[in-house]
Amino acid sequence: MRAILRLLCAATLIGSLANAGSAMAEEPTAIESRVESLLAQMTLEEKIGQLIQLSNVGDTTGPLPDDEARRRNMELVKAGLIGSMLNVVGVEEVRIVQDYAVNNSRLGIPLIFGFDVVHGHKTSFPIPLGEAASWDLELIEESARIAATEAAAQGLNWTFAPMADISRDPRWGRVMEGAGEDPYLGAEIAVARVRGFQGRDLSRPDTIAATVKHFAGYGFSESGRDYNTVDFSSTTLFNVVLPPFRAAVKRANARTVMNAFNIVNGIPSTGNTFLQREILKGEWGFDGFVVSDWASGLEMINHGFAADEHEAARLAMQAGSDMDMESSIYLEHLQDLVENGDVSLELIDDAVRRILRVKYELGLFDDPYRYLDEGREAAVLLSLENLAAARKVAERSIVLLKNDDHLLPLKGGEKVALIGALAADEDSPLGNWRAMSEADSAVSVVDAFEAAGIDFTYAEGAVLEIGSAGFPDPVVVNAEDRSGFSEAVAAARGADKVVIVLGEDARQSGEGRSRTRLGFPGVQQELLEAVTEANPNTILVVMSGRPLVLSWADENLPTIVQAWHLGSESGHALTNVLIGKYNPSGKLPMSFPRSVGQVPVYYNHFNTGRPDEIPDVFWSHFTDEKNTPLYPFGHGLSYTSFAYSDLSAVPEGEIYSVEVTVANTGQVAGEEVVQLYIRDRAASVVRPVRELKGFQKILLQPGERKALRFSLGPDELGFYNGDGEFLVEPGMFDIFVGGVSTAELSTSFSYEPR
Ligand code: BGC
Repeated sequence: MRAILRLLCAATLIGSLANAGSAMAEEPTAIESRVESLLAQMTLEEKIGQLIQLSNVGDTTGPLPDDEARRRNMELVKAGLIGSMLNVVGVEEVRIVQDYAVNNSRLGIPLIFGFDVVHGHKTSFPIPLGEAASWDLELIEESARIAATEAAAQGLNWTFAPMADISRDPRWGRVMEGAGEDPYLGAEIAVARVRGFQGRDLSRPDTIAATVKHFAGYGFSESGRDYNTVDFSSTTLFNVVLPPFRAAVKRANARTVMNAFNIVNGIPSTGNTFLQREILKGEWGFDGFVVSDWASGLEMINHGFAADEHEAARLAMQAGSDMDMESSIYLEHLQDLVENGDVSLELIDDAVRRILRVKYELGLFDDPYRYLDEGREAAVLLSLENLAAARKVAERSIVLLKNDDHLLPLKGGEKVALIGALAADEDSPLGNWRAMSEADSAVSVVDAFEAAGIDFTYAEGAVLEIGSAGFPDPVVVNAEDRSGFSEAVAAARGADKVVIVLGEDARQSGEGRSRTRLGFPGVQQELLEAVTEANPNTILVVMSGRPLVLSWADENLPTIVQAWHLGSESGHALTNVLIGKYNPSGKLPMSFPRSVGQVPVYYNHFNTGRPDEIPDVFWSHFTDEKNTPLYPFGHGLSYTSFAYSDLSAVPEGEIYSVEVTVANTGQVAGEEVVQLYIRDRAASVVRPVRELKGFQKILLQPGERKALRFSLGPDELGFYNGDGEFLVEPGMFDIFVGGVSTAELSTSFSYEPR
């Protein structure tokens, strides 16, 4: 019988304590006593007011409030019966509303202003999934830092980001907002983003509170259909869904958490006591506050969990959903519920304390106008430095999927045909959660080619979208107009090489943008085939908010580049990669399927009882498709090549020290993301065939070699069982190191926990 060691990860605990105060300038005890003395002065109505968040009228992600609602909202603010507003942006706007709160209400409690600053604010950075492909934690932190600086300069104190939802389903449009399919990478990135937003001192006027969302499991919507049912095992919950949230809360001290629209184990997240009270606030010791997702409390009626609004308010409050976003269930029902004894005053006080605490930490009580400075707003929003940073992140987010005939990099003197509506698009690269980036403000590939002096002809080929959809509008795809094909084909014929840019409009991914077909929308596939026939030296650049199915392109084209929606500097970043000014280094944070029927297809799956080594009818397979993805997690090429050797794993106390040598065996300098995977061969709960447990991004000159060291200890070798207990078990482990999740270099060791 195997000995089982239950570990309360001491290392993680110590880490979290060290970081606990990092987002605060004022001593926690001083804040606590200020919170208590304010709480003691508040009426029940005022307390409930702090638990209510309303949206500015006009900018919404849900059903629209009308003008009457705006008037009512402002009356409530003046009466001190609102704790927060979302979608009020800009120093002037925020000042008006903050004035109402501070100068009219009895206690003058400042509002906290939230907004979806998801991938940049004014300066647009690559969509989070694209940025995750950089595997560059410092840059990711910097990008969040810059977004925070810009958002704070516009009077905001709080972003609803990062989204830490793991997802294995590219049909779900919101994969663009997360860090992909892996809990380890997802946790590291969530930590980097929270640190970037919150900085070291939350009270500084250039830092904002982060929100880890959506707690929990929203990325597992059945069939990738947004807002759909979620149903997974508790081992998936503990090992896959929760780790990024836990890391963001415990390691980076995320000050707020947003719950989710979906159910978990039959209970809506907003009414889920187990998730919010037991795990988050109990086990993880979270002392910030939980905000509901947009009217998610009210939606518990549609779920069939609450009979009416009254009950929805009771269930949400009892379960630990502290602030209600936009639904009014707290506004209308909490007072009554408390007075009737259905909700205890202690629960209300606990929620109010949490919200006041964060407001104190932000420095809003010392100066409610701290974030409001017109001069700073103007200066920050014009920053060229931020654009330079956005270009750097964008270059590092691009993934070279395929480069068989070395068509890339483009060489000077080559005549290029640049084809595709997305090549001239100055809007789509801004992505779907573009905050305050101006429409049509991205650098297009056409403009960047001109700036780089490339000898090229541009042909649109086909319009992608008819009209131009905004955030809440459906996209109308061109499915008929092929009138530009002949010009594109002629341009392709007359060129040495073709660069064709295809994919999705910005509004085809994001919230409410689920898709069942993952090929190129509209007539783009036909255009691709016509152009490739005219000139086989065709380089495909894919702009999309999700992994698309690229099987035809993979079979028929030598070169494919994945370019996501790269933000303000999109065209320059892409051009720098295409001409070799920047050697691509991105690696996929999510597997690319061969066909939609394979979905979900992800690298860290279980082996099953009939794994794919058995060449027989009765093994776990498809009769018409391979089991493997087209491009696996971690995949990404470079203009140079890397060789891995000398892998060893040596015990050092409770830790295994893993060493490996990586060499640049090509002709140019390049960055490589060195990835370490483990496999626990047998455990009391089956473990995936591979799990990422470490990575390092390194730069190597041609011919240069570097020895790298990783360590594997109980934190990496353990796992959660279905009861949420963390187990570290003895047994054989395989490790794999390389530049992709299918890396072959491996060794094994036998582990004996102490
Ligand atoms: C989304 C959240 C977002 C909120 C506020 C909701 O529809 O699910 O992620 O933060 O709207 O805009």
